[in-house]
Amino acid sequence: MATHNRITRALSAIAIGAALLLTASCREDMHNQPKFKPLRINPFYADERASRPVLVGTVARGQLREDQYFYTGKINGKDGDVFPFAITPEVLARGQERFNIYCTPCHSRLGDGNGMIVQRGFKRPPSFHEDRLVKAPVGHFFDVMTHGWGSMSDYSSQVPAADRWKIAAYIRALQLAQAATPADVPAGMTVSNQKPQFHADTEPPMGSDKATHGEAPSGPQTEMNPR
Ligand code: HEC
Repeated sequence: MATHNRITRALSAIAIGAALLLTASCREDMHNQPKFKPLRINPFYADERASRPVLVGTVARGQLREDQYFYTGKINGKDGDVFPFAITPEVLARGQERFNIYCTPCHSRLGDGNGMIVQRGFKRPPSFHEDRLVKAPVGHFFDVMTHGWGSMSDYSSQVPAADRWKIAAYIRALQLAQAATPADVPAGMTVSNQKPQFHADTEPPMGSDKATHGEAPSGPQTEMNPR
């Protein structure tokens, strides 16, 4: 009796195993089917390439640049002098933020070309307040950021086109502010005559902390230039 039981159990184990094997081989789905593998050789085509060349004029998703002025700043090959969108306080705020991040190391927060890198020896850029650049069309600023200028490299990969326009708008605001007279202040508003306070005015420069070093800083002190 016991032997008979053992045989039955062994047989059913084999049956279950076989069933499992069968179901496993059934999971073919679409794993194997005729297809071309990218960049493999394929004798079907004259050029023997499985990857077909894209058609002339193909535009990748998200790269349709219909608004030519928005991406070039040029009208018939010449720098345009209009903004491709309305300049609002939000646009200026964004332009100021981007300008302070990307341009001030050389051009300074005022745009006078006295940024920290310049103070350390880099070529001095022209001031945005010189006559030529005050009169330059906004498209010129967009173009300089897009393609670079002389020893200044381009910012097209770091700063997208919309932000480049916003920076150009902020440079216009800087130019206005630096050339402003009391007559430009709207009626009823007052402007403080006080020199703005900078962080550097209120805190000792790094490394000159008497409490930690116990000695006065030696050597000539360089002006921090908080103009
Ligand atoms: C690493 C330093 C550096 C940074 C950062 C920099 N610039 Fe410049 N920029 C220069 C120098 C140097 C020149 C002068 C180049 C020359 O004449 O060879 C210049 C020139 C310019 C000019 C004048 C072009 C002309 O007609 O003379 C403009 C406008 C300008 N930069 C805008 C910008 C803006 C906007 C940014 C930020 C997106 C920026 N720059 C970031 C160094 C810099």
